[in-house]
Amino acid sequence: MKGIVLAGGTGSRLYPLTKITNKHLLPIYDKPMVYYPIRTLVDAGITDIMLVTGGRNSGDFLRLLGNGKEFGLKHLNYTYQEGEGGIAEALALTEHFADGDQICVILGDNLIEGNIREAVSEFREQRRGARIFLKEVPDAHRFGVAEIRGAAIAGIEEKPQHPKSNYAVTGIYLYDATVFDKCRTLKPSARGELEITDVNNAYIREGAMTFSILDGWWTDAGTFDSLLRAANLVAAKAGVTETVPAATVA
Ligand code: DAU
Repeated sequence: MKGIVLAGGTGSRLYPLTKITNKHLLPIYDKPMVYYPIRTLVDAGITDIMLVTGGRNSGDFLRLLGNGKEFGLKHLNYTYQEGEGGIAEALALTEHFADGDQICVILGDNLIEGNIREAVSEFREQRRGARIFLKEVPDAHRFGVAEIRGAAIAGIEEKPQHPKSNYAVTGIYLYDATVFDKCRTLKPSARGELEITDVNNAYIREGAMTFSILDGWWTDAGTFDSLLRAANLVAAKAGVTETVPAATVA
């Protein structure tokens, strides 16, 4: 299975932090954001990885990550997304790299506490179709939201005003090679992007979508609040109990 980290887009919700650098190079506690999704893939046993980036600071990724030595990798692949046409547009750029294999896609601003190793090995056996990871959240309207019927997902709505469940679709996706045919059929959404939710709904219509519920915490880091939350969660995981030293609190 091959791994894909999507780190394109403009990060406009984090402006002016993203005025002179790429969102995925911003710090989350003691590491740049992009380290976390790469680590998630490597911890799941996926070592053949491509990073998709874009914008003016793409060269910084190469300087930062090189061939992935810090992650125990021998090599890291890169590709470039022109513009910010959406997650599915970024994914479509990796077809040549995937070369017919199953893929594990992770959004560059998604962090998890746990490990997806078990679900990844189950998916290797499943061979066909797709699998997504859900997490119960208090603010589902910010995400893709799954409507669950019995043991199956009936559909996913992107950022609905009235979510049909509290289950957010996290930014970790397992796909077979038909994902690229599905990407080719997409039309831009109201926000002008090729949506990953449309790709997932295509699998659901085929009856080829399975899901896992993520253990441990999950967060994105694409807004000021979630960026802060991500740093606090990572610090707590590292055993830091106070992120504001008592001496500095009046
Ligand atoms: O975090 C999970 C959510 O991510 C899902 O629940 C949603 O269904 C999914 O659409 C996505 O929602 P966001 O609106 O939060 O995605 P955002 O535009 O922030 O992009 C997330 C990452 O995807 C970003 O960190 C880099 C990558 N990306 C995004 C765009 C728009 C690209 O590589 N290229 C792009 O053009």
